[in-house]
Amino acid sequence: MFTLCPAEQVPADEPLRVVLDDGHAVAVYSWNGAYYCTDDLCTHGEASLAEGYVENGEIFCPFHMGSFCISTGEPRAAPCSVPIRSYSVIEQDGQLLIER
Ligand code: FES
Repeated sequence: MFTLCPAEQVPADEPLRVVLDDGHAVAVYSWNGAYYCTDDLCTHGEASLAEGYVENGEIFCPFHMGSFCISTGEPRAAPCSVPIRSYSVIEQDGQLLIER
């Protein structure tokens, strides 16, 4: 189990990049009253998804504007075609946690 950050640190509709204790980077999202988490690195190129933006439950990559579902990680818009890993987020005592 990895601690991400306090829930209050995740801005609404704006991704937050978090580097886990093992050095792996993820992007955390607050959208529609819930928290989501995916890998930060886009599957299409060397882009940080945390530098993109969230709209209608999709994270749009800042490089070529492909997108993924923030809940399932499935690609939603080209040029993204490979799913991104997504994680279930647990909220516990104001902290957000994931398993990986
Ligand atoms: S690097 Fe993300 S869409 Fe190309």
